[in-house]
Amino acid sequence: MPRSIRACTFLDKGGTGKTTTAAHLGVALAEQGNDVLLIDLAGKQGDLVKHFGRWETVERQIAEDDDWPNISTVFQDQWSAIAEKLGDAAVEGLILDTDEGVDLIPAHPGLDSLDAELGNIDDAHDRYSRLDTFLDEYIEPLGYDAILIDLPGLTNNVSYNGLWAARNVIAPVEMGPFESEQAEALRADLDKIGANFGVDVRLAMVLPNKVDTRTKLAEEYLDAFEEAYPDAFVSSHVPVSQDIRNAAESGRTAFALEEPSTTAARAREAFLETAATLSERLENAEPAATTGGETA
Ligand SMILES: Nc1ncnc2c1ncn2[C@@H]1O[C@H](COP(=O)(O)OP(=O)(O)O)[C@@H](O)[C@H]1O
Ligand SMILES: [Mg+2]
Repeated sequence: MPRSIRACTFLDKGGTGKTTTAAHLGVALAEQGNDVLLIDLAGKQGDLVKHFGRWETVERQIAEDDDWPNISTVFQDQWSAIAEKLGDAAVEGLILDTDEGVDLIPAHPGLDSLDAELGNIDDAHDRYSRLDTFLDEYIEPLGYDAILIDLPGLTNNVSYNGLWAARNVIAPVEMGPFESEQAEALRADLDKIGANFGVDVRLAMVLPNKVDTRTKLAEEYLDAFEEAYPDAFVSSHVPVSQDIRNAAESGRTAFALEEPSTTAARAREAFLETAATLSERLENAEPAATTGGETA
């Protein structure tokens, strides 16, 4: 069985559109005929699940103590014993379906303490590869075509696990000087990971988001990003759209809007084009190899 394509949305900064991108790219990939699993590692506020109107379900499960196992459980030493004991129900219990055609593993409050727990694991490989191992052993057999992981906007042990498991990074960037510095720092970080740990994590896409082409500055930033990231730059960009915000607040993506505004329709187009580009890039890419780096 071919392995799923995997990617994560990541930039060491909040609010650039990581969660929005994970949700919309997921739906776009599903519209293009892929079986898609989204995984929310971005924190207990459950932003990703809120895009799909399933927040109440998750909240209720937590309130009723019906929230075990959950995404933080799969990082624990005991996970394989739990999975063996519960059988298929262990993994099935993690996954929610949505009415926009994607499956989703929601975030959980247990992610809060996970960073510190992972920090107590001495061996770096073990500390950072837990999610990767979980995906290989428990998710790959389910046969998803694509797995997208939404990461927090900061570099910690949890996001490192996401990077390790996904190997491909989609960085949504706003059009500003600070964002281009962040993207540059991200690229340097990924190079460092490769050198220190021998894990090849690629900056697969730099996706311009919240672009307002009415401003001349936006055009200048688009050009600058394209020049700085000739391989990763995505030529379609996501416009700034109040409808995206509104859709998220009403538990949907822009794909579920019956009467999308012009900007929402353009955003949908952009995500569909980006999804097609992503499939193409990742399917044609060399399998995410472990390169022979030095050990940290
Ligand atoms: N293209 C867009 N147009 C308008 N608002 C957007 C767009 N993309 C994201 N947003 C809004 O910006 C805020 C931050 O986006 P989010 O995806 O949560 O960022 P992150 O996950 O990087 O912190 C959210 O309120 C979201 O609805
Ligand atoms: Mg987010």
